Amino acid sequence: FKDFKVKNEPILEYLKGSKERKELEAALKNVASNCEDVPIVIGDEEIRTKEVKYQVMPHDHQHKIAKFYYATPEVVQKAIKVASEARIEWDKVPLEDRIDMWMRAADLMATKYRMALNAATMLGQSKTVVQAEIDSAAELIDFFRFNAFFAKELLKYDPISENPSVTRNSMRYRGLEGFIAAVAPFNFTAIGGNLSYTPALMGNGVLFKPSDTAVLSCFTIFKVMKEVGIPPGVVNFIPCDGPVFGDTITNSPLLAGINFTGSVPTFLRLWTQVGQKIAKYRNFPRLIGECGGKNYHFIHKSADVESVVNGTIRSAFEYCGQKCSACSRMYVPRSLWPSIKEQLLELRNKLKVGPPTEYDSFMSAVIDDKAFERIRGYIDHAKNMSGNKVIGGGQYDNRQGYFVQPTIVEVSDPRDRLMTEEIFGPILSVYVYEDGAVEEAMSLVKESTPFGLTGAVFAQDQKFLEYAAENLKMTAGNFYLNDKSTGSVVGQQPFGGGRHSGTNDKAGGPHYVLRWTSPQAIKETF
Ligand code: ALA
Repeated sequence: FKDFKVKNEPILEYLKGSKERKELEAALKNVASNCEDVPIVIGDEEIRTKEVKYQVMPHDHQHKIAKFYYATPEVVQKAIKVASEARIEWDKVPLEDRIDMWMRAADLMATKYRMALNAATMLGQSKTVVQAEIDSAAELIDFFRFNAFFAKELLKYDPISENPSVTRNSMRYRGLEGFIAAVAPFNFTAIGGNLSYTPALMGNGVLFKPSDTAVLSCFTIFKVMKEVGIPPGVVNFIPCDGPVFGDTITNSPLLAGINFTGSVPTFLRLWTQVGQKIAKYRNFPRLIGECGGKNYHFIHKSADVESVVNGTIRSAFEYCGQKCSACSRMYVPRSLWPSIKEQLLELRNKLKVGPPTEYDSFMSAVIDDKAFERIRGYIDHAKNMSGNKVIGGGQYDNRQGYFVQPTIVEVSDPRDRLMTEEIFGPILSVYVYEDGAVEEAMSLVKESTPFGLTGAVFAQDQKFLEYAAENLKMTAGNFYLNDKSTGSVVGQQPFGGGRHSGTNDKAGGPHYVLRWTSPQAIKETF
């Protein structure tokens, strides 16, 4: 994988008066003024059930942007049948042809559909223009291009044939028998595209279950793929109640895999259900999960304060801390705390929280009422629990949209809930350790949470950096030295974590495509 024939999609800037800004404005108007009717799609059939749902704009929650329908268990069963049958013909399509299709899809996402994808992500998932552009444009396009490239590289591998005129050995990449369930989160449109279409690229039949709060952007990806000619039934669009979907797919003997991004409890539930029924499946289902974290920034006394402050503000508060990689706990040595605190507050006070459509908004609303209540609970705990000091923010307001101000809490107990539980909101918890107690502080990083997704160490002392990298090795699947814990780029930092953060299958890297194929080694004797 040295000679990369693909490049990361550049980010557009949407400067005032630019062509792209005008196009985006038109797309935003289109999304805001329509309440798109989004059907369930199985094969080439559109289905509308009696269970009607709406997607609203989190920053203005009385405003609906999509009407959709929950699949019943019978509808999910129908999708299982259609996907499992469609994959048989699809798996015969040469991988090279599928790769070409994926490259064409990426080009359409970069051009014709870019603004529709961004507008659906901005208004539906409350992303600012920058956050939408790095997600529903660049990262989504990168997933399609890079996975196609990785698949192409696989085709170059030939097992050894010692005497090719007598026997020839080769490898064939088959899809998995049955179907794959792709369960997508709300926080990255790109992840929805990757979870559902990478298995499809490798010859599988898929049930794509979008998050209720990201239906419109996920359906836009589905439309792109239809336009490039993916056969009906290969990927089926199935909005559904989570437990109904989970129960129905795990009950099917045809379940070949679950590609999941979401919460730890949901993944544990799916895994348990699969375990209980393991003997009835035709194959051992592949379970791939990316489940969040309690990511840290660990600051050494030799750190550069400015880069700590800039990186931490961005990691903790961009997209309201609703990235699975967001920094939500920070460990700071007593000697640096006065200057870090002052600069953190100074920068925090400049952040504008507003509608995603205003170009100077740094943050917009959190995703929904459930998230708002959960985050409010943590802020109230921060205010009421002695030993905690809210040093910045702490306000919330859900009258029009689900707004929470970026909040910084200094905690005295490093095992407080604020330092150990995943919050998934704009709260940064800081524990100040004594300069002489750096070992104890590192032990807290390692042992006080069940997660292992992302982490960052800031230090200018090279020896300490090397020591910390080894000492904290198992705490993060994506580890940063002197940089923030968010912002992994496809092809550059393949993403995923261990422990209860997931199965660490490294989305955006070459290993990931291998999870969706069942290779066949063929020996041909002449
Ligand atoms: N790729 C996303 C990040 O690293 C999850 O922030």
